[in-house]
Amino acid sequence: MDSSLGLRLVTITLAFIHIGHAQDQKGFISLDCGLPANELSPYSETYTRLSFSSDENFIQSGKIGRIQANRESKFGKPYRTLRYFPNGTRNGYNLSVEKGRNHLIRAYFIYANYDGFDINPMFDLYLGPNLWDTIDLQGQVNGTRAEMLHIPISNSLQICLVKTGTTTPFISTLEIQPMGNDSYITDSGSLKLFFRGDILISTTLQVNNSNNYSPPKAALTTAATSTNAYAPLTIKWNSSNVFSQYYLYTHFAEIQELQTNDTREFNLNWNGNHYYDLLVPPKFKVFTVFSESGGSCKGGECSFQLTRTNRSTLPPLVNALEVFTVIHFPQPETNETDVFAVQNIKTTYGISRISWQGDPCVPQQFIWDGLSCSNTDMATPPRITHLNLSSSGLTGNITDGIQNLTLLETLDLSNNNLIGEVPEFLGNMKSLVFINISMNNLSGLIPQALQRKGLELFCQRNPRLCLSGSCLPAKPKPFPVATFASVASVAIIIAVLVLTFVVRKKKPSIVGAQQRPPSISSAVNVTYANSPVSSIQTNKRSLTYSEVINMTNNFQRVVGEGGFGIVYHGYCNEGDHLALIYEFVPNGDLRQHMSGKGGRSIINWGIRLRIAVEAASGLEYLHIGCIPPMVHRDVKTTNILLDEQFKAKLADFGLSRSFPVVDESHVSTMVAGTPGYLDPEYYRTNRLTEKSDVYSFGIVLLEMITNQPVIDQSREKSHITEWAGFEVNSGDIRSIMDPNLQEDYDSDSAWRTFDLAMSCANPSSKRRPSMFQVVVELKECLASEKSSRNMSRGIMDSHRSDEVTVLVDTEMFLVAR
Ligand SMILES: *[C@@H]1O[C@H](CO)[C@@H](O)[C@H](O)[C@H]1NC(C)=O
Ligand SMILES: *[C@@H]1O[C@H](CO)[C@@H](O)[C@H](O)[C@H]1NC(C)=O
Ligand SMILES: *[C@@H]1O[C@H](CO)[C@@H](O)[C@H](O)[C@H]1NC(C)=O
Ligand SMILES: *[C@@H]1O[C@H](CO)[C@@H](O)[C@H](O)[C@H]1NC(C)=O
Ligand SMILES: *[C@@H]1O[C@H](CO)[C@@H](O)[C@H](O)[C@H]1NC(C)=O
Ligand SMILES: *[C@@H]1O[C@H](CO)[C@@H](O)[C@H](O)[C@H]1NC(C)=O
Ligand SMILES: *[C@@H]1O[C@H](CO)[C@@H](O)[C@H](O)[C@H]1NC(C)=O
Ligand SMILES: *[C@@H]1O[C@H](CO)[C@@H](O)[C@H](O)[C@H]1NC(C)=O
Ligand SMILES: *[C@@H]1O[C@H](CO)[C@@H](O)[C@H](O)[C@H]1NC(C)=O
Ligand SMILES: *[C@@H]1O[C@H](CO)[C@@H](O)[C@H](O)[C@H]1NC(C)=O
Ligand SMILES: *[C@@H]1O[C@H](CO)[C@@H](O)[C@H](O)[C@H]1NC(C)=O
Ligand SMILES: *[C@@H]1O[C@H](CO)[C@@H](O)[C@H](O)[C@H]1NC(C)=O
Repeated sequence: MDSSLGLRLVTITLAFIHIGHAQDQKGFISLDCGLPANELSPYSETYTRLSFSSDENFIQSGKIGRIQANRESKFGKPYRTLRYFPNGTRNGYNLSVEKGRNHLIRAYFIYANYDGFDINPMFDLYLGPNLWDTIDLQGQVNGTRAEMLHIPISNSLQICLVKTGTTTPFISTLEIQPMGNDSYITDSGSLKLFFRGDILISTTLQVNNSNNYSPPKAALTTAATSTNAYAPLTIKWNSSNVFSQYYLYTHFAEIQELQTNDTREFNLNWNGNHYYDLLVPPKFKVFTVFSESGGSCKGGECSFQLTRTNRSTLPPLVNALEVFTVIHFPQPETNETDVFAVQNIKTTYGISRISWQGDPCVPQQFIWDGLSCSNTDMATPPRITHLNLSSSGLTGNITDGIQNLTLLETLDLSNNNLIGEVPEFLGNMKSLVFINISMNNLSGLIPQALQRKGLELFCQRNPRLCLSGSCLPAKPKPFPVATFASVASVAIIIAVLVLTFVVRKKKPSIVGAQQRPPSISSAVNVTYANSPVSSIQTNKRSLTYSEVINMTNNFQRVVGEGGFGIVYHGYCNEGDHLALIYEFVPNGDLRQHMSGKGGRSIINWGIRLRIAVEAASGLEYLHIGCIPPMVHRDVKTTNILLDEQFKAKLADFGLSRSFPVVDESHVSTMVAGTPGYLDPEYYRTNRLTEKSDVYSFGIVLLEMITNQPVIDQSREKSHITEWAGFEVNSGDIRSIMDPNLQEDYDSDSAWRTFDLAMSCANPSSKRRPSMFQVVVELKECLASEKSSRNMSRGIMDSHRSDEVTVLVDTEMFLVAR
């Protein structure tokens, strides 16, 4: 922000989008977190007149804190108490909202040394299953806030604080305000507040603030004009990352009594482009200019400029400016019906497990204890498939809330104090294949419906429970392990095994990866990169296609599918062996197709871009679609394999690991990766995040653009980022482009890809885009390239292979037990 121009950031006490005084507060939720319920509640806050109340009815966990007494005078009443969360990883609020309606959601965090430790906390804020913001109190003596405009897709909203390090999450206030349906509209995604400016020069006259945006009157009675009457008024800021999409809302009102011969008229420019022409602020009434679609800032520098027109006798003026960035929430929430049902069950039985907060199924690492779900990938809303409330001290009847979990497969209510009859509806739930209600105090007859085929029922040790007909205690049945596991649960178990296995294998082995022979063994190395070479040899064997078809029952079951291909569930359990089948990738790796080494064809720019999109999607999947989320840690061109259609597969998960959410285990004991591709920040701090992959991917992109070695000591600038950054200073993209491409590329898409690569390789992980943003940007590059290029060149010598590579691994079997 350029503060010399009379614009200042709003301070913590000034709420902005808010109701005019004495306006209707219907649907508003304004929580003074940590306010004891027995204190006067609700009360009207003096500045905003918002009616604040205690948060006690909206949360089951956390403790009450109060900011240091000597700092209380600096903050309004709602900010003096807070709620902090010493227990559990994810704690959160459950709030009632109107589905499909735009809501303002705002939270304040004022630390003020409430705990006496004087350590500024840092933690994450989640909206349902998705990350909303990272709250970092470092250097924020006046506190900080998170704010956004969001359209909920269900009638309840889960706002959670997630512990990410050693410090304790806390919250001061939480506000929800339903908005009109005609303001703050986006093409897609929600709007996250980037900053908001309120202006200094003031008037004592009333300004009418009724429009769709209803900025506070107090903000409108002030305005900024340029200090030099003829100079444009410019507001500049640096983008947090190059691909952020911005929406601007600027509010104008004339707040001076003008002479009849005076005119105030000006044009608006946004990043150097016309934005709004010939604006004349209406007298004492607000006029709002807003973006209809998002815009990004070239080179990461944003500028908003007001220039007076020649006929204007007065300088331009602006009363308030709000800048939002677009935020996407890719993970769908758990099916609303299931959420409602399980919350009902929770309430009915008074279950107070610390993990039972926020979205029940996702993100996977915070799944409610005792639940399993299907669809925890990114595509469809997850569904609850398993409910285990064994030994949970349940009392009362079996609640009919269970029947609303329509895709429930297993239900375990054993070892509780349940009474009454076994309800008939359990027999009518079509997906249910397993019920355990043993060791309770249930009574009466077991309904006929529960004695259907395909349903395993365990009901022993309920002294007063009878089978139909003869009223004898139900005989205990043997526990049929094989049939109990349903189709979906097997898939889940296998998926978990694969991941457990991958996570366990984390010894770095850079040499092994580089010496790998081409194609077939590359695919093998998906799990074997770190095994001693000899074990690769002994554990690998080739089978005919028909043998594999037989083993996998014609590839009947796909265990997982990412951007990087399909993993089939087909496994053999002969003796000690468990085999995993991967697709065979015949076309070698990307490196070979840029250098032409090994007789490989050189691929053109369009195909390079497509491969980049596919590889990026694979990484995006690892980062946000995987359970648990994973960091690949060894992204490089030799780990991007190409199938016969030149579709990219991400390979070599030898170094991959899930990135932990809690405690300090994110500081890995050993930094691993390939020199040149290794994130310098990770190298320095040992702190592994998904942004390390983004760095490596930036290097891969640079290689795809330039076909230069990543490190070349014979170059003056030995690292590819330094070399490319230096060479391109000439302003000519051709100076760095791979000469093999023979200038056959669209220079606009080349530039954009280059800019993207450099921002991915930014030394500061904060300034790197997310893989989500990388994919979006690359797709746009590809689209612009595609429109003018012939994509067919480069797809050659493709032949189908009947060979499939199979791994036989005993370690996996050990994990299985
Ligand atoms: C919360 O943590 C405190 C101290 O760390 C402990 O005494 C208490 O039992 C915990 N409560 C729950 C519900 O885990
Ligand atoms: C969460 O909020 C919704 C909507 O207000 C309500 O129906 C549900 O019972 C609440 N859940 C819990 C566990 O309080
Ligand atoms: C905190 O607020 C005070 C009073 O409003 C202000 O003078 C000071 O500059 C603020 N500090 C920061 C770091 O924003
Ligand atoms: C917006 O809401 C108003 C009433 O609140 C309704 O009449 C109008 O149809 C809505 N418009 C849209 C686009 O939903
Ligand atoms: C404010 O403006 C609106 C519409 O322009 C008008 O309906 C309303 O009466 C005005 N209110 C005041 C207090 O002038
Ligand atoms: C933007 O960043 C550049 C370089 O980091 C710095 O020189 C410049 O002053 C910044 N501009 C603003 C408006 O903060
Ligand atoms: C407008 O008129 C006032 C007197 O009524 C005069 O002082 C001022 O200079 C005039 N301004 C212009 C731009 O002509
Ligand atoms: C405004 O004035 C400047 C210089 O005084 C001139 O260059 C420009 O063409 C004028 N613009 C219009 C639209 O008349
Ligand atoms: C959620 O589940 C219910 C019940 O099966 C179904 O009717 C509904 O369509 C599902 N909703 C979504 C968004 O998938
Ligand atoms: C339910 O959880 C208990 C332990 O909490 C476990 O012993 C039991 O096997 C689980 N039931 C099922 C069906 O997985
Ligand atoms: C089951 O779901 C229906 C519709 O979603 C709802 O009306 C009903 O109250 C729910 N029943 C229970 C017991 O939760
Ligand atoms: C629920 O439990 C009570 C005993 O407290 C019993 O009288 C009643 O019949 C039970 N209801 C059902 C539906 O089993």
